This record gives sequence, C-alpha cells and structure tokens, in this order.
Amino acid sequence: MTSYIGTSTSRVDGCAKVTGGAQYAGEFEAPNLVYASVVTSTIARGRIARIDTSRALAVESVMDVLTHENRPKMASTDEAYNDECLPGGSPFRPLYDDKIKFNNQPIALVLAEESEIARFAATLVHIDYDAEEHTTDLHTQIEKAYVVDKPDKPRGNAAKAYAAAAVRHEGEYFIPIEHHNPMELFAATVIWNGDGKLTVFDKTQGVQNVQRYVCGVFGLNPDNVRVLSPFVGGAFGSGLRPQYEVVLAVQGALQLQRSIQLVLTRAQMYGLGYRPATIERVTLGASTDGTLQAITHEAVAMTSQYEDYSRNDTSWSALLYKSANAKYEHKLARLDVPTPCDMRAPGAATGVYALECAMDELAVALKLDPVELRLRCYSDSDQNNDVPFTSKQLKACYRKGAEAFGWARRIPEPRSMRDGIDLVGWGMATGIWEALQMPTAARIVLTSNGHAEVSCATTDIGTGTYTIMAQVAADMLGVPIENINVKLGDSSLPNSQVEGGSWMAASVAHAIAADEVRTELLGLAQKMPGSRLAGLQPDDVVLSDGMISAKQNKSRTVSLADAMRHGGVDRIEHEKLAEFKEDNKHARNTHSAIFAEVKVDEQLGIIRVTRVVNAVAAGRIINTKTAASQIMGSVVWGIGMALHEETLVDHNFGRIMNANIAEYHVPVNADVHDIKVIFVDEPDSTVNPLGIKGVGEIGIVGVAAAIANAVYHATGKRVRDLPITIDKIFR
Ligand code: MOS
Repeated sequence: MTSYIGTSTSRVDGCAKVTGGAQYAGEFEAPNLVYASVVTSTIARGRIARIDTSRALAVESVMDVLTHENRPKMASTDEAYNDECLPGGSPFRPLYDDKIKFNNQPIALVLAEESEIARFAATLVHIDYDAEEHTTDLHTQIEKAYVVDKPDKPRGNAAKAYAAAAVRHEGEYFIPIEHHNPMELFAATVIWNGDGKLTVFDKTQGVQNVQRYVCGVFGLNPDNVRVLSPFVGGAFGSGLRPQYEVVLAVQGALQLQRSIQLVLTRAQMYGLGYRPATIERVTLGASTDGTLQAITHEAVAMTSQYEDYSRNDTSWSALLYKSANAKYEHKLARLDVPTPCDMRAPGAATGVYALECAMDELAVALKLDPVELRLRCYSDSDQNNDVPFTSKQLKACYRKGAEAFGWARRIPEPRSMRDGIDLVGWGMATGIWEALQMPTAARIVLTSNGHAEVSCATTDIGTGTYTIMAQVAADMLGVPIENINVKLGDSSLPNSQVEGGSWMAASVAHAIAADEVRTELLGLAQKMPGSRLAGLQPDDVVLSDGMISAKQNKSRTVSLADAMRHGGVDRIEHEKLAEFKEDNKHARNTHSAIFAEVKVDEQLGIIRVTRVVNAVAAGRIINTKTAASQIMGSVVWGIGMALHEETLVDHNFGRIMNANIAEYHVPVNADVHDIKVIFVDEPDSTVNPLGIKGVGEIGIVGVAAAIANAVYHATGKRVRDLPITIDKIFR
C-alpha cells in the first residue's frame, strides 16, 4: 500500500521545470497579444490632481492608457473585492479613483503592441499630485496602536509574578519589513476568447480565489472566467490574495477586447504585500531552577490605513512553554503603506523569534543550558486552550538535533570557542507552527489501461504538490507513479482554497480517496463469471500492482483491466470532498528544534552561518525529499532574516529605497553552508487519518533566533533588532 508515501520521490514536474517546459503566468502566448506596463505613484499619500497621458498616447503602437478616469467599470462595494485571505477593512482597488494610499501605488496602465514600448511610454505619463502629509515610520506610531483580534486569555497575574520572580529578563526585539522576492515576477496573461470569455493565467496561490475576485470586481459571470496557475515560481504568501496585476490585465482586456500580458517589474513588486515590521516586547520571570513563572508578550505590527492585517505574534509564547502566569497583546499601527500580507509562517517567524531570543537571554541569566531550560518548561498541553496536542515529539527534536549537531561539546561562556581568527558561536531555538487542513476536493479518473488522472484546483507553489498528489494516488490505486497524471492550478477543477498555511498536503491527500474507485472495481470484478473475488467486501480488498486483491489471500486477484473490460467500462471517475471534523479537544501543531553555528570574524564582524541542524516533528512526511527541500529553503530564509533582509524606507518620501534584489539582500550561495534536516518520527492518528501535519512553514520558525543566539554566544554581543549587520556587532 505504501510504495511511494514516505519515500524521497523526485518531483514529477522536475523535468518540465528544468527544461523550460513548465510555463509561468507571464510566458503564455496568444495571437495579437497586447503588452501592458504600470505607472506607479511617487508620493505616499494624497490625490492625483491631473494626469496627462498625451505624450504616452502619441508613441507609435501605444493603444491606450488607462487611468481612474477612463478605466472599465468596476464594482463600488467593498464586498465585491472580497477574497479568501481578506483582512478587515476596505480592500485596495487599483485604478479606482484619484486617491493615493501608498508610494509605488499603480495609477495608470499603458497598453501597447510591444512590451518595451509600453514600458517606455509609461515613463511619459505625467502626474500632478496634491500631496498630503504621510507617516511610514512604525516607531512614531506605537502610542496610537490598537487591538484588532482579541488576545488569548491571560492566565494568573503575569505582572505580579514577573515582579516577584527570582530571575527576570525583559527585552525588546525588532523585525523590519521583509519582502518575499520570489524569482518569478508577478504577472498575468489574460486571453480574450471573444463573447466576454476570459482565460486568465495569473501568478497566484489560489486560482478559484482569483476567479471569484475578478468576477466580483468586474461583475463577470464565473462561467466566463477561467483562471489558471499551473506553475508558480515562488510566492511564499505574496500570492495568497489576488494582486493588482490581475485586475489591471483584466481591465486592459475588457477595454481593448484583446488579450493582454502584464509582467510587473521587480521594483513594482515592492508595492505588493510584505512581512510587516514588528516591535516585540517580551518579559520572562523564572525561579532559580528554571521554572517559568511569568510570560508577557506584546507586539506592535504595522498595517495600512485601509486594512487591518493582523497575525497574532504573541500567542505562541504560552502555547509553547509552561507558565502559570501569562499575558499577551498584539496591536497594529496604521501607516501610509500598502497592506502587509502573509509571508512564510506569518506571526510565528516574527513572534517566535522574539520569544526564543528572550528564552536564550533567560538561560544566560539562569546559567542554564538553553536546551535544558526548554526541557524544564516543556508543556504537553496547549495552555492557551488547556488541551493536549494530537502529537508532540518536540523532545525528540531537541535530542536528535542536539546529537546531530554535537551540542554536548558547547562551552557555555560567550567568546570561549574559536576557529583561527573566527569566534565560534552555537545557538539554538524552538520552532512551532500549526497543523491546518481545509476542505478540499479531488477527482480521480481511472482508465482501463491502469492510468489515472488526479485533479484538484489547488496550486503547487513549488512545495511539491504535484508530486505528493501523484504519490498518494499511485499508492491508493496500486499503480506505478508514472501512470498518474496530476492536473492542478485550474479554477475549473474540483474545489480548493488557496495553497498556504502548510495545509495543502494534509488537505488534498485526504481528498484523493480511492475507496469509491476500489468499491466500483470490486463490483465489476465480482460480476465476472466465477469471480475470484466473489463474496468479498470493499474493505477486504486492496489495489496493488494493477490488481484488485483479497487482503487475506493474495492469490485471489483480478486485474483492473479485466474487471473494467468485463464490466464494459473504460473509465471510472470519482470526486471526493475531504472535510475535517472540528476538534476542540486537541491542539494541532508542528514543532522543531534548530541548532546553528556561526563563525564571526573578530576584527571585521563578518558573520557566516556555517552549520544548521533543523530537527522537525511534523507527523507523517509524505515525501522526504520535497519536505526536506521545504525545510532547507526555510532555513536559508531564516539565515536571510537573521543577517540580510531588510526593506529600507526613506520616511521623508515614504518610499522604499532598496526596491531591487541588488540592495535588498537575500542569502546567496556563498552565504549557505551545511544544512541538515531531520524528521523525527511522529505517528499521529488523531490529527487526520493519514497523520499528515504539513511542512511548508515550520522550517523558518526559530531559525533567526537560533542564529541570533549563536551570534551572542560567539561575540558576547546581543543584537535584538534584525538583521544582525556588521555595524550592529560593533555598536
Ligand atoms: Mo504561506 S505565508 O500561507 O503562503
């Protein structure tokens, strides 16, 4: 039954990806394609007083320039702009009116026969603004921050317990704005099929989400709009909500009644979502034996003037560790910026960074090994909701991670370990994320040659969804994986929400239910004269090696082909919606332990992350290769978060200064050294029947903290505001 599940199966789409066969949203062709280019604002707040498109329109081959004054009709209600990942507030509407809400806001769309001409003509659009005063600095708005989501219930009296604690730590941590920077640029190709029918290729993590949104915004009939996203070149959350490229491309198509292609520039992608800059205050109070007495965690994150984007950074703090007293508060501060959006492990990558650095600082104050402190505060239950976990093998993560890393050889004193001119630091942290699942449907079509097509409207954002769908289907149907053809990323396929939150593996795997296929095949096999499967029930048989076989007696078999031929059917088709029971009696989480080694040049302050071990407990791992790649990629991102990534805003102009991947630093090959991923066994029959928890996001949580803690251990310098750059080491 399990030839593929649990193995390191290579990506079924790998060949298409490395040979250029995989097509991305900005690569689709159409006859008479029109190219679009966006003009964006250069002020952060105010109005467009006048917009002069005459010079752009005068350029040969420019067909039109759309602005708020002449664009096609768009809906006027907020509800029409609804999407699955909508925060509270009033969604942004591209080219809707003359209001400027953030710098780099799209305000005009140039349409031309050539993409280069469209881009050139976009530079000729002249805008006069009525600018208003703007605010883009989070630090100036802390006092005005407000609570959106009710915080988790406090326990005991945290302030009192903190004041009375024998050992205390208080710290303020800062995570700057970070941008997703996927390799693939945001793009949409809208094919005009005539009669108002549109085929939309969009860079998105949710094709049905975009379909509903586009239909809402433009009042289109869903039967006339098909959205596809067969491949996604990275998104990490930036493609969860529909982004403005799809609105503008559809506007162009409706205006010209032609097919339109719009590829945003890298700089324009800094006008989409991002991880919000967040200030985190953590206090920890403990007894001298390392028992936590009090945890308080307050976060202030930025949002836009028009939406309340909120991901609670603080509730992880008492979910993870035992403490009789705890209090939390996550607040938002409004700025003249676009709304932030989810970025890999939203709320956890940031909140757990602060918590896990604070835990390290507490361990130092207690003169206790950081792993030992975490073991003394270990919790077998989610204390926020007072329920046990469906499974929690975090202790095994600590043990196996520490063993693989060689943690026992760590000398506790900072600056005590050296390698030539380098100071060596070893740090660790815990990671935690949710094990989510969403209602998801899939269809199986089995043909008598033993091949099957498995389809679902989910996307594969690079995580390996094509591959795990093929693995699950091959095992369930008992055929080789080469016989499985996976179709996804198409709004016409069975229903799926956006791919995000690390929920898709668990969700779609349970929708690929071959039970109905097996039942139908058995029925056909039993109609054969003198059937060898006579009298058996569906649960008495399995599908394997292209056969229907009795579980108890493997010689009682009928081939799929014979059963279908005798039954006179050439295809068996079943669609199933996997829904998941509400379970308030358990917490569902994944966990990890991260161990990091840094080497810091003592004179120059240059930091290298030379080794990382990430030991993960995430239930059953369907594909150890793609899952390990997920964790490895997350660790690389954690290195970026710790040392490199920072979106810099010139607050005088409210404009991002480093809106390019030369000056927005991400780890490059030379920054990435030895990364070891360990999956610990975590059987879990409670979380869902297959015991799957998901691995997309857990890999980044805690990584930046482990590195920051290692930098402290190497240098004796505690840097709490990310990224840890050379200047901060010496400040
Ligand atoms: Mo993920 S941040 O839900 O794409």
